Amino acid sequence: MKILVTGGLGFIGSHTCVELLEKNNEVIIVDNLNNSKESVFDKIKQITKKDNLKLYIEDVRNEENMDKIFSENDIDCVIHFAGYKAVGESVREPIMYYENNLCSTISLIKIMKKHNVKKIIFSSTATVYGEPESSPISEDFPTGKTTNPYATTKFMIETILNDLYKSDNEWSIAILRYFNPIGAHKSGLIGENPNGIPNNLMPYILKVAAGELPKLNVFGNDYKTHDGTGVRDYIHVVDLAIGHVKAIDKIANETGVKIYNLGTGIGYSVLDIVNTFNKVNSLNIPYEITARRPGDVDEVFSNPQKAKIELGWEAKMNIEEMCRDSWNFKKNNM
Ligand code: UFG
Repeated sequence: MKILVTGGLGFIGSHTCVELLEKNNEVIIVDNLNNSKESVFDKIKQITKKDNLKLYIEDVRNEENMDKIFSENDIDCVIHFAGYKAVGESVREPIMYYENNLCSTISLIKIMKKHNVKKIIFSSTATVYGEPESSPISEDFPTGKTTNPYATTKFMIETILNDLYKSDNEWSIAILRYFNPIGAHKSGLIGENPNGIPNNLMPYILKVAAGELPKLNVFGNDYKTHDGTGVRDYIHVVDLAIGHVKAIDKIANETGVKIYNLGTGIGYSVLDIVNTFNKVNSLNIPYEITARRPGDVDEVFSNPQKAKIELGWEAKMNIEEMCRDSWNFKKNNM
């Protein structure tokens, strides 16, 4: 298949491109380098030793140029990763988030319609569930009571995609709700390396391990969990990437809107992650217990059964591999 991947140089996008190429798909990346580096393109080639991939440095909102890209390439399917994703920033800059995430998706769908491409996989998030009543969370849990503009953009796009299908039953749409992706490709060539002070736990731990930040702040130890620190469903980014390949198989032959959680179904606390990271990498991350971070909840983990039954997909890599591969990437890219 010929697959257009928006945001294909980003953390999840780049790992997904690798898995698509390994399955002999043709990949066309559209990325505006907002939160990624052009060098990732060569890393993808280096890992896969494939040359059936192209890169357009372009903003998805540029409809004229996107139209040309669709005309030049006989695209079968789109995976839409491109978008802003920082929760805290979205609270400070909501309009920027609504404009970028919503307008890019609407532009993309307009061009897809024009070129009669009606298969799309959308990068959604477990934060569409808001503050869930309980875990494990299955796909039929209520969505929409989101707690920040980033999550609201994802919820709104899910709504748009549902309406799109209602208006035209030829569309095949998969909405993938990610839990907490960490880890990196085994090669150590691609991974997550945000600029500045990271918001998320693993990128923060990596900067402490590298000596770039003095210590980890553990946000609260009075949650209702086994050790008091917040519990999340961490998933290896390569497992997540493989989930997209399985979702393509699904939407290739079936129309409709399919929604899947991509998680492991297992929750680990902040201190579980710190301890495992220390053990597998023979390190000792300094940390301090600090105040809770506003908006955080006790525990969030998935029920991944639907993806297992309908996609034949389940996460295979354990927390030790996630912690080892995360550090392996960071060590190679300091
Ligand atoms: N945490 C710390 N210290 C830090 C950063 C995080 O203790 O410096 C804790 C948090 O309090 C939380 C856990 O580590 O208990 C995980 O926090 P992250 O920020 O890594 O992840 P979140 O679960 O808050 O949110 C992430 C992404 C969202 C995504 C969501 C899906 O940021 O984009 O997972 O559940 F939607």
